[in-house]
Amino acid sequence: MTPRSFIRADDVLAERLRPADARYLDLHHGNEELLYGLQLLGVVGPFYSVSPWELEDENGVRRINASGYAATPFGEMPPELTSFMREFLEKNRAMSLPQQSASPWRAALGANLVQLLARELPSHSDSQVFFCSSGTEAIEGALKFAKTWRPKSKHFISFSSAYHGKTYGSLSLTPNPEYQDAFRPLVPGALTSPYGDLGALQSLIRRVGPDSVVAVVVEPIQGEGGVNIPPPGFLRGLGEYCRKHGIVVIADEIQTGLGRTGHWFESAAQGLDADIITLAKPLGGGLVPVGATIVRQAMFKKMLGGLSSKRHSNTFGGGALSMAVGLKSLEYLLDNDYPARSLILGEQGLARLQQLQRRFPRLFEAVRGQGMLFAMQFQPMVGGLPLPGALRELVFEATALLALREIHHAGVIANMSLSSKRVVRLSPALNMPQDTFSEMFDRIERFAQRNHSSLQLLTNTPPALLTQLATFAATKPKKRTPSDG
Ligand SMILES: Cc1ncc(COP(=O)(O)O)c(C=O)c1O
Repeated sequence: MTPRSFIRADDVLAERLRPADARYLDLHHGNEELLYGLQLLGVVGPFYSVSPWELEDENGVRRINASGYAATPFGEMPPELTSFMREFLEKNRAMSLPQQSASPWRAALGANLVQLLARELPSHSDSQVFFCSSGTEAIEGALKFAKTWRPKSKHFISFSSAYHGKTYGSLSLTPNPEYQDAFRPLVPGALTSPYGDLGALQSLIRRVGPDSVVAVVVEPIQGEGGVNIPPPGFLRGLGEYCRKHGIVVIADEIQTGLGRTGHWFESAAQGLDADIITLAKPLGGGLVPVGATIVRQAMFKKMLGGLSSKRHSNTFGGGALSMAVGLKSLEYLLDNDYPARSLILGEQGLARLQQLQRRFPRLFEAVRGQGMLFAMQFQPMVGGLPLPGALRELVFEATALLALREIHHAGVIANMSLSSKRVVRLSPALNMPQDTFSEMFDRIERFAQRNHSSLQLLTNTPPALLTQLATFAATKPKKRTPSDG
């Protein structure tokens, strides 16, 4: 087949669209600059699953998959879910997109989520769930529920290095100039407080007046910020202080929730009884998009009560396939107690990283982790030089990018962090077999042996590639020719 003809689904399924053609078309019709940068680094794929935990490229090179931005709790194409999906497609008779009718799948998933949450936070036993199709949409819903609850208040508070998404509301609470600056003015009323500093939050609220604050939005552990774990007592204190003043607390559990950090709900584990809890990523089992906003009943009814019940809606949220896969994912997590497993494996993994940091202090500035969420923060390549802010940022980013490339070479697919330029993250599947998990850290060790200082990341990169990367970073976006791709 040629890429110029209509590309049939059967051809893609049978892998008749060659990887080089897929790359070419994806570059030309998709996010070209992003894919081009990844292609320069040699990490662009496409990748194909050989097992839930391993991906291979077109040359048959297999790598352990620790990417997926925490949204693949069971790895790639987990047979437990795919066989259920097959059965669903053959047998399901419930309406596909039941926006304005009851649905057995939505009913079951909503009821189970509330039940699981209420096991830890009994105050949520009669909470209600609004379903959507992404994390950012779950946050948008949360902001609207909070605002209708406190209609006279105007401020939303989030934290430094937070990541809540890239639609306007969630973006306004993601204090990262790289993502925000082109889109100002943002949604008004957004304020930022330093993450983990309860005193600073209290004085900010005192300064603007507690009555003016609609809500505080917090990640119980910051994922995209680089796996930042707040000090003990921060979340509990935040909850108590906000409750005293009637301020709504939104726990963004989109990355941490459902076992990633070793608990069903990380915020509850840290003593926070939030009013609204957002979930997404793992709820779709890595296969379908599902987001959920769990809201205290009175708050839910205030926004969607009576004739206002259509005030917030969407087309795809609550769709039968998404809900069914979400339900099966939850069941699989529960039956195997993956949150508990995540905590145990997480301790092993963190111990391996800490050992590496001790052995290679000129490579690793810090390592962090909880459950199956790990961060490697690299020493800047030219750390000794006094560089101005923007250049320092560039050096941080370049270090992490070259580390990503070398980790890829060592046989592990990792992720950057969206709100931290210095960090490469590992978020392996919660059901990764023990031997694969250990092998993953063996490979990270081999990566560190080959690059025992950050400067070596630079010397291990071919000069021609460094030139290409520097040109890419310095030039304005352009239409790339096929030979570039
Ligand atoms: C904590 C948190 N909130 C919100 C989001 C946004 O989710 P999505 O990418 O599905 O819109 C993310 C995504 O990384 C996240 O980690």
